[in-house]
Amino acid sequence: MQELTVGEAARRSGVAISALHFYEKKGLISSLRTPGNQRRYARDVLRRLAVIRVAQRVGIPLEAVRRAFATLPQERTPTRAEWARMSALWREELDTRIAQLNLLRHQLTECIGCGCLSLQRCRLANPGDVLGESGDGPRAWDEVNSHE
Ligand code: FES
Repeated sequence: MQELTVGEAARRSGVAISALHFYEKKGLISSLRTPGNQRRYARDVLRRLAVIRVAQRVGIPLEAVRRAFATLPQERTPTRAEWARMSALWREELDTRIAQLNLLRHQLTECIGCGCLSLQRCRLANPGDVLGESGDGPRAWDEVNSHE
């Protein structure tokens, strides 16, 4: 199998060399070393880089990409079936992300007309406040102390 130099991988993928090093450091891609200690990439790195670029374009965190890639074999080029399996496993995560983005769009539309950014009632300003739905005040604190 013909391997790619760093320059070839960068040119063919449109990804900067510094980004290749960054992705490698993050465990998203891997390289081999020549006897002269130069990096060489297997050709499937191009597909991985294409997936990373698309994921970044739609705001999918690199950690999610890394988890998906971790399901692929590292020591050889993944087969078409293995890529398909990765996509299927990733689908749930993508669906969740799409649902979150839809919710965010809905909230943003409402909040643009409102503008209060109230910590008590604005889900955009305070998105994780599930306990806040049951009323004002330190709910978790009350609950913890009621068991003592
Ligand atoms: S800005 Fe008022 S509810 Fe979000």
